[in-house]
Amino acid sequence: MRGISLFVLAPFFIGFSSSQPHEVYPRARGTTGVLQRQIVNSTECPGTFEHVSAEDYVAASDPGWNLGNTLDAIQTEGDWNNPKVESVTFEDARAAGFSSVRIPVTWAYHFITDGPTWTVDPDWLQRVSDVIDMALSYGFYVITNVHHDSWNWYDFSKPDADVQMIEEKFYRLWYQIGVKLACKSSKVAFEPINEPPGSTSEHAAQQNRMNEIFLKAIQDAGGFNAQRVVTLVGLGEDTIKTSQWFKPPMNISNPWALQYHYYSPYDFIFGAWGKTIWGSEADITALESDIANVRNNFTQVPLIIGEWSASPIHTETAARWKFYDHFIRLAKKYNTSTMLWDNGADQLDRTVHIWRDPVAIDVLMSAQKGEVNSLPDSTKDAAAESQFSSAFLFHHAGTMPTDQKLPFVFNGNTLDKVTAGSIVLEKDWDYFVASDSITFKSNFVSNFVRPSWNNFTSSIGIAGGIVLSFSQGADICLRIVQWDTPTLLETTSMVDASEDLYIPISWKGLSKPAAVRAMKSDGGILVDDWTQWLGPLQRGRLTFDSHYNWDSAHLILRRSLLESVVNSGQNVTITVEGFPRVPGNEANYTLTVV
Ligand SMILES: *[C@@H]1O[C@H](CO)[C@@H](O)[C@H](O)[C@H]1NC(C)=O
Ligand SMILES: *[C@@H]1O[C@H](CO)[C@@H](O)[C@H](O)[C@H]1NC(C)=O
Ligand SMILES: *[C@@H]1O[C@H](CO)[C@@H](O)[C@H](O)[C@H]1NC(C)=O
Ligand SMILES: *[C@@H]1O[C@H](CO)[C@@H](O)[C@H](O)[C@H]1NC(C)=O
Ligand SMILES: *[C@@H]1O[C@H](CO)[C@@H](O)[C@H](O)[C@H]1NC(C)=O
Ligand SMILES: *[C@@H]1O[C@H](CO)[C@@H](O)[C@H](O)[C@H]1NC(C)=O
Ligand SMILES: *[C@@H]1O[C@H](CO)[C@@H](O)[C@H](O)[C@H]1NC(C)=O
Repeated sequence: MRGISLFVLAPFFIGFSSSQPHEVYPRARGTTGVLQRQIVNSTECPGTFEHVSAEDYVAASDPGWNLGNTLDAIQTEGDWNNPKVESVTFEDARAAGFSSVRIPVTWAYHFITDGPTWTVDPDWLQRVSDVIDMALSYGFYVITNVHHDSWNWYDFSKPDADVQMIEEKFYRLWYQIGVKLACKSSKVAFEPINEPPGSTSEHAAQQNRMNEIFLKAIQDAGGFNAQRVVTLVGLGEDTIKTSQWFKPPMNISNPWALQYHYYSPYDFIFGAWGKTIWGSEADITALESDIANVRNNFTQVPLIIGEWSASPIHTETAARWKFYDHFIRLAKKYNTSTMLWDNGADQLDRTVHIWRDPVAIDVLMSAQKGEVNSLPDSTKDAAAESQFSSAFLFHHAGTMPTDQKLPFVFNGNTLDKVTAGSIVLEKDWDYFVASDSITFKSNFVSNFVRPSWNNFTSSIGIAGGIVLSFSQGADICLRIVQWDTPTLLETTSMVDASEDLYIPISWKGLSKPAAVRAMKSDGGILVDDWTQWLGPLQRGRLTFDSHYNWDSAHLILRRSLLESVVNSGQNVTITVEGFPRVPGNEANYTLTVV
């Protein structure tokens, strides 16, 4: 390319045979030691680079969105649940109101030579560069990185890790990325590595050193890289290890921010142990203290939460909306930018250009703008024996419609308008409002459920939607759901742990389970016995995806769960529990052992 000149001034990595690998990378440009400093190619770029401070970069990139499971897929783009990215996907993210895109990239399967050169496939470098240009063309700020390599060759925390090789390879990789992206605008920032594994202070020190190697590599690569914003990372890229052990590189000259990720509380975010509620005082305090902790440890550093999410697939809707609202407002309170994780199967449906939970995106964007959201309330008490969620108007099929009171948190807003399809509802006739609830009258509810209250098989499921508009904040869409207990079309089988078990099911309401539990015939809990100490709707409950999943016609039991049944030597009752979480909304399946 014109304008980029590359000169080889000396062979690479003369110093790497050293027995003192810690001196291979001078801590600052220009440092000379007893070991030879590598003299490397440097890139010159046409045009000028508009200098941006890390503070301004992080502020302008807020809020961001992740192009997940795409260029970071193992082994390559297209190998996970997403097709190759198209420009229009960035248009969708832009239209939703995001300002930045994180483009994670896995490089592990794109090296075409081994060491010492560790040459990266030029076609892959070109593809990454092209995808970044696509995002830039929509005005996005872009953070790109080295992603799942962290589980692969990069994992210096493994007992047999060849740390010197890892350092060399990391330098060579970032050098090549640095050369390829050297002339990108100041809207492109680099993140050295995603969630580096490790657990000890020694691992953390090694990660701090890897940040230095990364800086050295991109600076050696030349171009605009020495002025480019970088978002450095601590061990695990989590709140605790980052706060505890991250140390900025000495004499750092790049404008820099600190990036970390947030997926807490684990049970709610990952669908573990029947945790379908969020939003108690304790939940909110824990969230605030995590975000405050990082801020208080790094008072002068621009902070960015590069990944966070609560997936619309398996988290309860009202709890999820509360989480989005509190998360964004607390991140803003502590001057921290956010980037929503999206694996392509949870947030944006890239094929049809629809956000699977548009209300969540609206809640996020309204909170971002400082608007107050009104939100449906839901159970907060972990000791409750049943749960409500005002994100839904649940009607039990076969019962007479009654007035439906939905607890609501108005946060000082007024409810201005209520619509169902093209119908504008009439206040005090179709519904009435109290200070902490909205009640939909039985007459209104009947419009959706009466035609079939004595023929309910025809209309089980989502019967309609109600849109609530407030004096400010996101519009909230409630779903009217006519439900009955889920029905299993088979109820027993001999356990076979050789493959996942697909149990045919007829969902009767929301087409997903609220939770699944597994009890042994002696009355004991099959897995995670400690859940006996949790509330009545969590005891014996399993974890989404690691133990169970579902599709539109099946409950799916994972091999790991089936293996636990085999190992228990007992017959096990699997109970699938539906929404709403009320007594009796469940069905049983028995796995027998000989
Ligand atoms: C340095 O630049 C030369 C000339 O463009 C190129 O042949 C060589 O591969 C480059 N070396 C590295 C390590 O990138
Ligand atoms: C950092 O810079 C200072 C001042 O230039 C210098 O004395 C020091 O040696 C540098 N430290 C490292 C680790 O390069
Ligand atoms: C810094 O983080 C550590 C570990 O998370 C925490 O224990 C400590 O209280 C934090 N310091 C401040 C000043 O918040
Ligand atoms: C937010 O943090 C940036 C530094 O990252 C600082 O420049 C800015 O003044 C802070 N804003 C507020 C409101 O504290
Ligand atoms: C139930 O309703 C469906 C659709 O409205 C209709 O096709 C069906 O004939 C009805 N069944 C009975 C038994 O009325
Ligand atoms: C499991 O249940 C089956 C069928 O009821 C029974 O024949 C078998 O003995 C039971 N297995 C154990 C280990 O109790
Ligand atoms: C399912 O099995 C459990 C025992 O594990 C029992 O307590 C419960 O009543 C059963 N539910 C149904 C709907 O049969």
